[in-house]
Amino acid sequence: MNKVLVLGSAGYIGGSVCSRLLEGGNKVTGIDSLVNSKIDNTLYLEKKYPNNFRFIKADLVREIEKIILETKNEKFDVIIHFAALKSVEESQSNPELYWKNNVISTLNVLDLMSKKGIRKIIYSSSATVYGERVKSPILETQKFDSISCYGSTKIANELLLNDYANSGKIDALSLRYFNPGGVLENKIFKDYIDGPNIFPKLIKSSIASQSFKIFGTDYPTRDGTPERDYIHIKDLVSGHISGMNFISQFKGYESVNLGTGRSTSIHELIKAFENGNNIKLDVRHAQRRSGDIAVCYANVDKAKNILGWTAKCDVNDICRDLIDFYK
Ligand SMILES: NC(=O)c1ccc[n+]([C@@H]2O[C@H](COP(=O)([O-])OP(=O)(O)OC[C@H]3O[C@@H](n4cnc5c(N)ncnc54)[C@H](O)[C@@H]3O)[C@@H](O)[C@H]2O)c1
Repeated sequence: MNKVLVLGSAGYIGGSVCSRLLEGGNKVTGIDSLVNSKIDNTLYLEKKYPNNFRFIKADLVREIEKIILETKNEKFDVIIHFAALKSVEESQSNPELYWKNNVISTLNVLDLMSKKGIRKIIYSSSATVYGERVKSPILETQKFDSISCYGSTKIANELLLNDYANSGKIDALSLRYFNPGGVLENKIFKDYIDGPNIFPKLIKSSIASQSFKIFGTDYPTRDGTPERDYIHIKDLVSGHISGMNFISQFKGYESVNLGTGRSTSIHELIKAFENGNNIKLDVRHAQRRSGDIAVCYANVDKAKNILGWTAKCDVNDICRDLIDFYK
């Protein structure tokens, strides 16, 4: 049994990891400001796991002392840090909010680790750290390249963790997610429907009869639409469990891609979604968006070699589970 401090525990990925950790008999303390999530699923976890789950509502930017005080009798083996704002568009128009919320919070988390004597941290990074001048399959050795303020905050946090790990103070693992989607078997935590990701947009256009926009159909790809690496939340969650096993024995800093190693075009994704749902979406074509690249998928050799982890699901599984959930 591990004692885990989960930051951003009420969100889509953090909540999914919490529920899997609790199913596995671990003890979890969750922290979330609820800036981008609701309390309902957290209350459900508290009720289901009264002895193993505890939630503290707190903002990592403003209320780190509150967290230190409220956990003064608790010891943690590892922190998993999901807490962040994640809209690329919003980050471009409000960089101050993103630098404060995503980076000052991480500095505060490092302070908390030092005060509470916690050495191990797993950080939610993203394929966005590779920017737009990349060749897929993308290796972890690819240089950082910022294409948005959101991306800059992910790079900054990785550099921060790397520097602290180099000084010998902590051991850190950054997991660079590609494009997550789907829901767990228990269907508790889902990506918010008005969020920036593609799966909520597909769902929204199917249930609210809104058109679905493809941004750019003239890319040098299989069918002209961008290709991405869609990873099922079940696989993403199991990647964190493998990450926890890895970090418990590891000293220093590592970064690892979590993707499937395969690409799916937007047209292929829409087809999988339509076939699974037996519907036809109202698809519209729009201009390319700046910052979107043609092809982005992971090289997953490192995840296999050092975490012993590979993704098992594909886009059909993601679409099927999502559709089941919304039906
Ligand atoms: N979903 C994706 O497509 C994706 C892809 C790559 C990386 N990531 C990263 O994974 C992490 C989790 O993403 P998600 O999809 O679950 O997002 P989410 O918005 O569902 O969850 C993030 C949670 O963090 C909380 N939070 C934000 N700022 C906080 C703060 N200052 N203090 C306390 N809580 C705070 C929010 O209320 C929310 O519950 C994020 O760091 C995100 O950048 C997500």
